[in-house]
Amino acid sequence: MRILITGGCGFIGSNFIRLLLHSDSGAMVYNVDKLTYAGNPANLDDVSAAFKERYRLIRADIADAAAMGRLFREACFDAVVNFAAESHVDRSIVDSAPFIHTNILGTQTLLSLTREHGVGRFVHISTDEVYGSLPLEQKNRAFKESDPLEPNSPYSASKASADLLCRAWHETYGFPAIITRCSNNYGPCQFPEKLIPFMYARACANEPLPVYGDGKNVRDWIHVEDHCKGVLLALQKGRPGAVYNFGGNAERSNLDVVRAILSYCGKNDSLIRHVKDRPGHDRRYAMDYSRAAEELGFAPSRDFEQGLTATLDWYARNRGWTEHITSGAYLNFLQDWYGERL
Ligand code: NAD
Ligand code: TYD
Repeated sequence: MRILITGGCGFIGSNFIRLLLHSDSGAMVYNVDKLTYAGNPANLDDVSAAFKERYRLIRADIADAAAMGRLFREACFDAVVNFAAESHVDRSIVDSAPFIHTNILGTQTLLSLTREHGVGRFVHISTDEVYGSLPLEQKNRAFKESDPLEPNSPYSASKASADLLCRAWHETYGFPAIITRCSNNYGPCQFPEKLIPFMYARACANEPLPVYGDGKNVRDWIHVEDHCKGVLLALQKGRPGAVYNFGGNAERSNLDVVRAILSYCGKNDSLIRHVKDRPGHDRRYAMDYSRAAEELGFAPSRDFEQGLTATLDWYARNRGWTEHITSGAYLNFLQDWYGERL
C-alpha cells in the first residue's frame, strides 16, 4: 500500500509514521512536509535509518497544486492521511493567514487531487476544538460527532472549514473521506510552544509559568500513541463519510497539569503566574468516543499521570532536541506573545 502522509515531520505525524511502518510491512510511506518551524526531520531519524526502502521525505507545501500534482502522478497513492496543519491557537490569534493557507486551501488541494487520481481512502485529522467550548458546570456533557461545529479561534475555524470541505466532497462526489477528531495530545516530539513541553522547559529554567486566566480551563489529554492507534484503525476500517471522535479519558484543569509538571521537577507553585487570558479561550473540551469504540475498537490505553511522567522523562533525556528547535523565529514569537503578559 502506497500511503501519502502529510505533515509527517511534526509531532503527531512523526509518531504515526513510526507506528505505521512498524505495524504494516506492506506500507510504503511518502511523507510530504513543508518543514515549517514545527516540522523537524530529526523526529524520524530512526525511521529513515530502519526503513530506507519504505520511507521517503518530500519537502513540499500541500497547497502547491503543481508540486502535489506531480507527486500524485508519480506515486499512484492508495491512501492519504492528512496531518499537515498550522496547529497552534495562539499563533492563529496573532496571524491567521498561514492557517487559512494550509488548513483550508491545503486540504482543498489534497481533496481535489485525491479525487482526480481515484485514491481509495482519505483520512483527515481534525480536532475536538471544532465543536467549540463546553461549560465547566455540566460535567457529564461531552462532544458527540453529531454536535454542531462552533469554532472559537482562527485555528479551530480553519480546521472546521477543512472538515466541512471533506464532508462536501463525500456528499457531492461520493468521495471516501473519513474525519477523525481528537482531544489534546501529549508525548515525545511535541513542539515546546504547547502547554506541557513549554511549561516543563520553563520550570527547568526557573522561569515563571504563564497560566492563562484562572487556569481552570479543562482539556482532555490523550497520549499521542493512543491517538495514532486510532488513526490507524480509521485508515484500516473507517467507514467512508464517517466522523470519529477520539479521547483520552483524562480531563484535567490547566492548573492541575502545571502543578504536576512542577512536582515532577521538584519545584513549588511559586513559579506560577496567572496572566491575561487567551482571547476566545475555550473553557472545557470532553469527548464521547463511543462510535470509535464500537466501529473501530478504539480505546485509549495510557493512564495520564504515568504517561505524563514518561513524557517528561523523554524531554529530560532529550534536552538537545528542544534546544535545537527553539531558536530564531520561535523566540521572536514568544517575545511578542508573552512579552506583554509576563
Ligand atoms: P505540528 O504543528 O507539530 O506539525 C504540523 C506539521 O505540518 C509540521 O511538520 C509542519 O512542517 C507541517 N506543515 C505545516 N504546513 C504545511 C504545508 N502547507 N504543507 C506541508 N506540510 C505542512 O502539529 P501536530 O500537533 O502534530 O498536529 C497534527 C495534526 O493533528 C493537525 O492537523 C492538528 O490540527 C491535529 N490535531 C492536533 C492535536 C494536538 O493536540 N496537537 C489534537 C487534535 C488534532
Ligand atoms: P495548548 O497546548 O496551546 O493547546 P490548545 O489551546 O489547543 O488546547 O494549550 C492547552 C491549554 O493550556 C489551553 O487551555 C491554553 C493553556 N495555556 C496556558 O495557560 N499557558 C500557556 O502558556 C499555554 C501555551 C497554554
